[in-house]
Amino acid sequence: MKPPLPPVPPALKPKPRPAGATDAPTKPVDHAVEGGSSAVGWIDERMQLSGGLRWVMFRKVPRHDWSYSLGSSVMFAFLSQAVTGVFLAMFYRPDAAGGAYESTRYLTNEAFLGEFVRGMHKWGSSVMVILVFLHMAQTFFYGAYKYPRELNWVIGVVLLILTMTMSFTGYLLPFDQRSYWATIVGVNINGTGPIVGPYLSDFLRAGPEFGATTLSRFYSIHMLLVPGAIAAMLGAHLWLVVRLGTTAPPWSKPKPDPRVTRAEV
Ligand code: HEM
Repeated sequence: MKPPLPPVPPALKPKPRPAGATDAPTKPVDHAVEGGSSAVGWIDERMQLSGGLRWVMFRKVPRHDWSYSLGSSVMFAFLSQAVTGVFLAMFYRPDAAGGAYESTRYLTNEAFLGEFVRGMHKWGSSVMVILVFLHMAQTFFYGAYKYPRELNWVIGVVLLILTMTMSFTGYLLPFDQRSYWATIVGVNINGTGPIVGPYLSDFLRAGPEFGATTLSRFYSIHMLLVPGAIAAMLGAHLWLVVRLGTTAPPWSKPKPDPRVTRAEV
């Protein structure tokens, strides 16, 4: 015969239910919300991405110091430029014999939301340049260029040059009077550089004269070469931030290590 079971401890006894309680849910279930969260969970269960994303995205930074968000702000500006640029490219024609000007005019005056998207791209380019300089100033004043982050600083300098190249090559694309003459001035300034200057201006012009091939060259540099290079360099830049962590502000004091006694210090 089995021995009798021990009595249930009072803490584990089920609480008496209030009179009239049923098992039916008290609130109607919001299927849209439940469906959304479980779909993300469903995908994550199969792809196992959330751990890696948390590892990349969650960095410890000092409280209330917004300057640490400048790098991410530049990245956001770059993504916004990439997305709006894709929509502009759906309408733009890099044709120096009037097509570039006409497609830009059509895009601005007739295409649905064209002026808005073009405005976002145009203002976004200035925002990105300003943010890049602010981010560079922040990393400089916090001493983030020092060991072991020198390589990330060098990659940053390349990103700065690439960002400026985006602005320069994009300026020609509307192919109106202002962009045409301003770019001729810019290419000539490049040509005055020592040793590489003349080669650089030849490369930009795509020949000895400023003409139809120049526009194609600028367009391909602007929408293929440089965005690709920025994406690759940004990957390396972020990899180093993840590996090395962020730099503490120069005024922060290290916490004393409780394992080290005063005499040892
Ligand atoms: C397309 C341009 C750039 C993007 C999208 C970008 C993005 C970022 C991001 C997201 C971070 C991590 C968060 C932070 O500390 O702010 C970072 C860190 C850093 N960036 Fe940039 N960056 C760019 C250009 C530059 C430039 C021009 C420099 C300097 C020449 C630079 C130098 C650094 C350094 C040294 C760090 C490490 C900061 C630390 O240790 O606290 N970056 N960058």
